[in-house]
Amino acid sequence: MKGVILAGGLGRRLHPLTKITNKHLLPIYDEPMIYYPIKSLVEAGIDDIMIVCGGNHAGEFLRLLGNGREFGLKHLNYAYQEHEGGIAEALGLCEHFADKDKVIVFLGDNIIGSSLKNIVEKFAKQSDGARILLKEVDDPTDYGVAKFNESKDVIQIIEKPEMPPSNYAVVGIYMYDSNVFDIIRTLNPSARGELEITDVNNAYLKENKLKYSILEGFWADAGASVEAYYQTVHIVRKFKIDKN
Ligand code: DAU
Repeated sequence: MKGVILAGGLGRRLHPLTKITNKHLLPIYDEPMIYYPIKSLVEAGIDDIMIVCGGNHAGEFLRLLGNGREFGLKHLNYAYQEHEGGIAEALGLCEHFADKDKVIVFLGDNIIGSSLKNIVEKFAKQSDGARILLKEVDDPTDYGVAKFNESKDVIQIIEKPEMPPSNYAVVGIYMYDSNVFDIIRTLNPSARGELEITDVNNAYLKENKLKYSILEGFWADAGASVEAYYQTVHIVRKFKIDKN
C-alpha cells in the first residue's frame, strides 16, 4: 500500500502565521506539523510515501525532509499542486505514483495519538472499495460528518453541516482502492471551488463500497483554526510528556 500526505493549500485559516511559511511546517510542540503524519504512516508499515506540497514555500519541504532518512525511509516522493483545487484534486496528482496499488491518504494537518497498524492491515485484506476513520467529537460542524441508519451503517457524509446528523466526524485519513482516481475524474467543484474528498467518499457509499473504523486515542485537526492549532500543541505536548 502506498502512502500519500496532502500538504498543499494556503492555510488561510491560520493567517498571519502562514504568511511566511507553510502551515505544515509550523511547530507542533517540538516537531514540525508534517513530521506527525509521516511518523504515523511509517509506524503503520507504509514506507513508500508521496508528499503533495503547494502554495508558497513548497521548496522548504525538501530542505526539511530531504529523502526521509530521519524517518527510516530510503526515499520520499514529492508532487506540487499548482492551485488550491481541493483535497481530491491534490490526491488526483498521485495516480502515477499509486500505480494501481491501494493508497492511504493522510491530511498533513491531522495528528493522531494511536497506531494505524491494525486498520491498515484490515484494509489490506479488504477486497476493494474504501475505508474511512470516524471519531466522536463534541462539535463536528468543522468536519465531514457521518449520517447512520439504524444498523449503524454510514449512509451519507455531509461536509461541515450546520445541523450535524451525528457526532461522528470523518478523520483526515482515508484508504482507497485504485478506483479512486476514476472517481476523482467524475467530480465537479463544490461551492467553495474545490474537489471535495467527501464527494469521493459518498461515491464509494453509493456503490456500497465504503467501510469505516473508529479511531482510538486522540485526534486533532491542527489547521481548522488558530484555536484548534493552539489546542493541538497542548494535546501533543501532554501526550509526549505523559509517554516519557
Ligand atoms: O481534518 C478532517 C477534515 O478535513 C474532514 O473532516 C473534512 O471532511 C475534509 O474536507 C477536511 O476539511 P478541512 O476544511 O479541514 O480541509 P482543509 O482545507 O483544511 O485541508 C486539509 C489538508 O488537505 C491541508 O492540511 C492540506 C491539504 N490540502 C487542502 C486543499 C484545500 C491540499 O493538499 N490541497 C488543497 O487544495
